[in-house]
Amino acid sequence: MHDSVTESLNPAADLGPSAAETPGGTPADKPTEVPGPRRSDAAGTAETTADTAAGIWDPRRDAAADSDLVRAARREPVRHTPVWFMRMAGRSLPEYKKVRAGVPMLDSCLRPDLVTEITLQPVRRYGVDAAIFFSDIVVPLKAIGVEVEIVPNVGPVFANPVRDFSDLDQIRPLDPAEDFSFVTEAVGQLVGELGATPLIGFGGAPFTVASYLIEGGPSKNHEKTKAMMLGAPELFAALMDRLADLSAAFLRVQIEAGASVVQLFDSWAGALAPRDYERYVMPHSAKVLAAVADLGVPRIHFGVGTGELLPLMAAAGADVVGVDWRVPLDEASRRIGPDYAVQGNLDPSVMFAPWPVIEARVREVLDEGSRAPGHIFNLGHGVTPDMDPDRLARVVELVHEASAR
Ligand code: CP3
Repeated sequence: MHDSVTESLNPAADLGPSAAETPGGTPADKPTEVPGPRRSDAAGTAETTADTAAGIWDPRRDAAADSDLVRAARREPVRHTPVWFMRMAGRSLPEYKKVRAGVPMLDSCLRPDLVTEITLQPVRRYGVDAAIFFSDIVVPLKAIGVEVEIVPNVGPVFANPVRDFSDLDQIRPLDPAEDFSFVTEAVGQLVGELGATPLIGFGGAPFTVASYLIEGGPSKNHEKTKAMMLGAPELFAALMDRLADLSAAFLRVQIEAGASVVQLFDSWAGALAPRDYERYVMPHSAKVLAAVADLGVPRIHFGVGTGELLPLMAAAGADVVGVDWRVPLDEASRRIGPDYAVQGNLDPSVMFAPWPVIEARVREVLDEGSRAPGHIFNLGHGVTPDMDPDRLARVVELVHEASAR
């Protein structure tokens, strides 16, 4: 079991109210062996704002805010390269299949007990450096009553796809206190359980969510989406704007409840040419990322097939740019410049090759990542259902061992 999860389950680590209420106190679990500044001034100021917004100063959260994952995202020195996997919770794990049996995917996302358990499963099994909140990019739409279902082996399917302005009425403004109370509850439980292990909150970028809403379901070429973007740009922009507000609210509620990092998933942005991305999509993603800038947690911006978009995705307001396996991390870093950390980028399919191949490729990714100002190890896209959990655990061990400073 992962140290910090064990630690937080230990009553001794559960600091009493007097310790928790001592601003500026020095909790024993704060790592001290890392040289260099604890955090940049700007981030420190913003973090104070986040703590104030939440109304408490929580030493466990402070430890997560000083974890290797957060430090790498801020381009600060780390003890080892932090590692987690996109889609690490889910069908690759037998314990997930067990708790999900008979519960539809989106129903499970609305139940804080299940969300907490499923989020912790990969942390216990893999000893990764972060947890990712178990949810889905379409959960905010579900929370405001949009008719959506996740069909097994298909993906999100919408009953009323967006085709004209009247279809936008289903995307009403969100009341975070009312509509997202299940998120606040689950994140609160989770940060208590996770202790010094940071929780990554996430949301879907407007384009990726819009593509499901416009197509009605998953799509290979995003033809209806592009037809609206180019043929009815005002309708497309109005939809993107509503989705940006919704995603911003989703990220915000997760951070305010205790998430230490957020990731904006624009999985399908790579379908766009840079000029179309810049004109029709980037301003809306920038709105989402700007909407949480005051909270001071690092923002990861990820997409697939985005080699040509990397500088734009960085400039949209990221601290870390997620890179798929098509561009080596040192080249990705060269494209976006020294002001950003990178995340990635082992080809997920490599996980099905013999172990010596995996090992060589992991070392290659670490070597290329070491030439960027900050590196978070991940796959170039998500864990797939047939991946062997034991091999993922071995990759985590190797990353920690090979990158120990
Ligand atoms: O990463 C994690 O472990 C956290 C949970 C998470 C899920 N979806 C759970 C999930 C995250 C971060 C997502 C994001 C998401 N959802 C994205 C962006 C990430 C990416 O992979 O590019 C996208 C495009 C979606 C939409 C979506 N939801 C798809 C394409 C699917 C797969 C459908 C299928 O069955 O093949 C889903 C369903 C989904 N989301 C599952 C999980 C664990 C599987 C559903 C199940 O277990 O029944």
